[in-house]
Amino acid sequence: MALGGCEASTTAHSPLLHLYPGGLREITRSRSRTIFCIANGIVDRTKLKSGGPETHGLLLIAVAEAVRLAAVHISRYCYTTAAYEKIVRQRTQRAMASAASNLRATSSDKNSRNNGNARFNDEALSWDSRPFVHEASQAAATAILARLNENNAKHPSDDKSQTNHLQVLEIGCGTGILSFLLAPHVARIVAVDAAEGMIAVLSQKLQKTPDAPKNILPVAVLLEDPEDAALPSTHSDQPDGLRQKFDLVTSHLVLHHIPDLRAVLTTMIGCLVPGGRVMLTDFEDFGPEAKRFHPAAKMAGVERHGIQAREMAEIMREVGFEGVDVRAAWTMRKKVEKFEGEFGDAGAKPEMGEMMDFPFVLCYGERPM
Ligand SMILES: C[S@@+](CC[C@H](N)C(=O)[O-])C[C@H]1O[C@@H](n2cnc3c(N)ncnc32)[C@H](O)[C@@H]1O
Repeated sequence: MALGGCEASTTAHSPLLHLYPGGLREITRSRSRTIFCIANGIVDRTKLKSGGPETHGLLLIAVAEAVRLAAVHISRYCYTTAAYEKIVRQRTQRAMASAASNLRATSSDKNSRNNGNARFNDEALSWDSRPFVHEASQAAATAILARLNENNAKHPSDDKSQTNHLQVLEIGCGTGILSFLLAPHVARIVAVDAAEGMIAVLSQKLQKTPDAPKNILPVAVLLEDPEDAALPSTHSDQPDGLRQKFDLVTSHLVLHHIPDLRAVLTTMIGCLVPGGRVMLTDFEDFGPEAKRFHPAAKMAGVERHGIQAREMAEIMREVGFEGVDVRAAWTMRKKVEKFEGEFGDAGAKPEMGEMMDFPFVLCYGERPM
């Protein structure tokens, strides 16, 4: 049964409940009545079946995701119907609110832009406490600088060989970890993020960190238009004039959150000067196991489980990039859930999960002169 982007199905015997999106999957082989009773508390089961108006659109996607997350937790940890009901209701309400706001934030609806991205706003304050994001940004900076230096070696007399004059735009900068690493090598970085919370943390770091770079400009914007007024203008004496164009556009761990890759690449090429370059890093979709990059509780806002190198190269060429080269850049170990849902909302405890290797790609392209 397909319902406005979600699917739900039951059978008389196990597996008894499946919920979608993200792939039709078995939630539990037992206690299905309780889970249905819980699901009915959110969406009337007959409406679910009939596909009535309440079942369509954003809310249902949020509900399906919420119930899925709740069911994963509950089917593992609870044994009585009363306990099921109480905890599922609490978890479902929380997950519903979070899933709905994330879906709103990642939709292309312009009205949602001022809401920022709820998930990343929520995570902004604790973002820098995760060793993984620092390691990943360090690896991205190394890969980007190495790629810039390749140009040095090939064209020593080319203007492009000097990095310290580069005007850089980082899209989806988060708290600016990558921007801080690149800043000493370039002229200026305009660091944009849709989540105001992330930009607030970056601004604080720029003000309070001793020896913070002086050449990072933080901007809170869901960037979908190269002429967005939030970007600096080309000429400071013409604030309403054309927006600045950049020598380099970067993004790191962002593409897998973008609903429409063609659209964001079109925005990126529109932000470049002729001859300017993109260098975009993200983990690679190397097959079904790539899904394990995110714990079950953090799937909201995830549009794909990594980047498919061939598909990415094709789209880059289609939107007009030249010299396209999408290649393996580095591999990183990450702690992942051994059993789906085991990290829960609170995140992994030391005894949970297992380590897994993830390959990362660097997507390179040039705007034609
Ligand atoms: C997984 S986080 C990565 C943050 C940072 N690059 C890092 O690695 O620490 C993805 C970020 O991309 C931002 N984002 C996604 N699409 C965006 C867009 N079109 N414009 C600006 N920011 C965007 C989100 O708000 C989020 O903070």
